[in-house]
Amino acid sequence: MQKIIIVGATSGIGREMARLYAGAGHLVGATGRRQELLYTLQLEFPNHVITECFDITGPGATAHLESLTRKLGGLDLLVYSAGWGEIMDSLDWAVDKGTVDVNVNGFLEAVHFAWRIFVDQGHGHLVTLSSIASIRGNRHSPAYSAAKAFQSTYFEGLSIKARHMKIPLYLTDVQPGFVDTQMAKGPGRFWVAPPEKAARQILQAINRRRWRVYVTHRWWIIAKIAKWIPSWLYHRIG
Ligand SMILES: NC(=O)c1ccc[n+]([C@@H]2O[C@H](COP(=O)([O-])OP(=O)(O)OC[C@H]3O[C@@H](n4cnc5c(N)ncnc54)[C@H](OP(=O)(O)O)[C@@H]3O)[C@@H](O)[C@H]2O)c1
Repeated sequence: MQKIIIVGATSGIGREMARLYAGAGHLVGATGRRQELLYTLQLEFPNHVITECFDITGPGATAHLESLTRKLGGLDLLVYSAGWGEIMDSLDWAVDKGTVDVNVNGFLEAVHFAWRIFVDQGHGHLVTLSSIASIRGNRHSPAYSAAKAFQSTYFEGLSIKARHMKIPLYLTDVQPGFVDTQMAKGPGRFWVAPPEKAARQILQAINRRRWRVYVTHRWWIIAKIAKWIPSWLYHRIG
């Protein structure tokens, strides 16, 4: 039985991952700001879900993660599924700041917390939900794509660091395309996957210790196109 923290498990992909892990008999520490949603998750799996309600961008975030780890009796896997962003035509300071707070500062706080534990105990697995949006700049949500690029690039660096340490410490950078949740924003949505399907594919990638995965799988085609499309063309059509 693994001890797993999912930051951002009140809804969407994180919640479905929590349900899959709890259903498989693991012990899941679920977090988020919406207490009532944590409560219903806990009711569904009373012996396999422990909850901690807090804002990952708040001052007590690390203390909450410590408290949850104590309640779980240890930590084997931490998934950072918390995320936020907004489509905007203008440039809005509040939106950009909120986006960086959750997707960069909260992310770093959770990753540092888990990294310390995993290095001390000599094993562990860190997972982040970045985005296909991390690959190129996006005029509709420049801070979101930049923040997700931070996550993915940071994870690549950490993953190399872990490999050099020669201990079983793994990292998985998940890059979803559109998944049918509150976060699937923007015009022209396509290949929208149900969150359960996305969660299943993410669990599979974690089991296989993949360092990067596109979800659903066919989004690797979009990732390849996004990487190789020349700037002169991307800047016209983007
Ligand atoms: N859906 C998509 O199309 C898509 C595509 C690419 C990447 N992603 C990424 O996938 C991840 C999961 O998103 P989702 O699609 O499952 O959307 P979601 O249903 O909106 O889930 C977002 C989760 O983040 C939590 N969260 C947000 N701000 C938080 C904060 N300040 N403190 C603590 N928790 C916070 C939310 O919990 P509370 O509101 O209860 O705090 C919620 O559990 C995100 O990182 C998102 O960027 C999604």
